[in-house]
Amino acid sequence: MPPPPPASAAILLVAVAVLLVAGAASAAEEVVTCSGIVPMSERADRISIADFGGVGDGRTLNTKAFREAVYRIGHLSRPGGTLLYVPPGVYLTESFNLTSHMTLYLARGAVIKATQDTSNWPLIAPLPSYGRGRERPGGRYISFIHGDGLQDVIITGENGTIDGQGDVWWNMWRRRTLSFTRPNLIELVNSQDIIISNVVFQNSPFWNIHPVYCSNVVVRNVTILAPLDSPNTDGIDPDSSSNVCIEDAYISVGDDLVSVKSGWDEYGIAYGRPSSNITIRRLTGSSPYAGIAVGSEASGGVENVLAENINLYKVGIGIHVKTNTGRGGFIRNITFSDVYVENARKGIKISGDVGDHPDDNYDPNALPVVNGILVKDMRGTKVQQAGLIRGIKNAPFTGVCLSNINLPGKPGPREDPWSCSDVSGAAFEVSPSPCSELTSVSHSDSCATYS
Ligand SMILES: *[C@@H]1O[C@H](CO)[C@@H](O)[C@H](O)[C@H]1NC(C)=O
Ligand SMILES: *[C@@H]1O[C@H](CO)[C@@H](O)[C@H](O)[C@H]1NC(C)=O
Ligand SMILES: *[C@@H]1O[C@H](CO)[C@@H](O)[C@H](O)[C@H]1NC(C)=O
Ligand SMILES: *[C@@H]1O[C@H](CO)[C@@H](O)[C@H](O)[C@H]1NC(C)=O
Ligand SMILES: *[C@@H]1O[C@H](CO)[C@@H](O)[C@H](O)[C@H]1NC(C)=O
Repeated sequence: MPPPPPASAAILLVAVAVLLVAGAASAAEEVVTCSGIVPMSERADRISIADFGGVGDGRTLNTKAFREAVYRIGHLSRPGGTLLYVPPGVYLTESFNLTSHMTLYLARGAVIKATQDTSNWPLIAPLPSYGRGRERPGGRYISFIHGDGLQDVIITGENGTIDGQGDVWWNMWRRRTLSFTRPNLIELVNSQDIIISNVVFQNSPFWNIHPVYCSNVVVRNVTILAPLDSPNTDGIDPDSSSNVCIEDAYISVGDDLVSVKSGWDEYGIAYGRPSSNITIRRLTGSSPYAGIAVGSEASGGVENVLAENINLYKVGIGIHVKTNTGRGGFIRNITFSDVYVENARKGIKISGDVGDHPDDNYDPNALPVVNGILVKDMRGTKVQQAGLIRGIKNAPFTGVCLSNINLPGKPGPREDPWSCSDVSGAAFEVSPSPCSELTSVSHSDSCATYS
């Protein structure tokens, strides 16, 4: 066989090179994700809210349609579950429950809108790990969309909207006329295998998305919006929940964008259910409070949290780990990585004197154990104070490690860029120069030995 002419050898080489480059490029484009923890179920059975008399005119009350559709899904329990389609239009409704093995699908232009008539809003029992409503004693208003003891639930679609019309509730809070704790926009209690994706949440009366006593929860590719002055409109609050994956979210609200919690003082300690294995990745947003928070209700413990690739524009505090005397529990093995903060009062705050108590029966000797908090690869601009780390006198925070941090800005007249007490740990390449409580180390991996 004659040797191949040189030209085809060159073509072969070029082809190999192209393949190699293409291979490298697709490898680089491979997006890191935790969303695989819950497989996306395809539903063979499909119904529309219109089949139940749903009218998307923005005025008709669709409570009966939603409750009947969900009842039908729960009682027929079709193999593989059922998709409930919400066509374009504005569907006003009172609160409704979800059921297992269902997909709530919002078409592009579909809006599920909460009624502003608060007088008939149902009440439910307080969460055992809180002992009472978060803001008022006793029971609490049920969340606008609610689920208890469910599995395999998906809320998704084509960027449709779930709108809490929360201003009536915010005004009751402002005027101090609330009888009970305001409703969350979505709360799932004691549920598993949940996906919330491709939906816009807006104007929640209180916290937006609240998975509590849940496992295997994915919240992905969502937009959460509420005015910056709306009270307590936290974005996503994983609470006593494990294996939670939050990715690709834009959140601009009046309180913490994401806050990992696990119950409140003596009630949370007694209930004893931690939040663990929580990933928060590729989140962008604004808030007058925290970008990413842990606490302050963390009495069941919080561990194994990874928050990475976080971009915050105009926030109160970039990263806020908050607890208090009486909380008990633990906060450990928390990592924040690749964080950008622009225009913040504080870059980092880790503090043991934050938040209130449910009642006077909290145990003042129940001190939280805070150990192993790593913040790495964080930079910012216009950050007034780089960091405030204030441990608890009889329970100093340990293993706080800062690595490769650059948070320039102008501290207030009587502030240092870093202010620390009752804390130990390490610092590697931190600018401005960190407080002396953190031992300067010369390798980033020395951090581990301080935890
Ligand atoms: C919704 O669920 C709650 C709590 O699980 C329950 O108390 C309530 O009766 C349910 N509401 C409807 C309309 O089924
Ligand atoms: C994110 O959601 C938008 C609409 O809400 C959709 O067009 C887009 O395909 C989604 N991206 C992913 C990765 O699911
Ligand atoms: C989804 O809607 C939000 C809010 O209106 C908007 O900011 C976002 O760009 C939309 N996303 C897509 C993919 O259409
Ligand atoms: C957390 O993740 C680890 C490692 O993936 C796993 O071994 C552990 O069981 C998870 N914890 C919970 C509570 O699911
Ligand atoms: C600490 O948390 C990370 C997630 O950030 C997890 O991968 C790791 O296994 C945890 N370490 C321990 C000792 O549990």
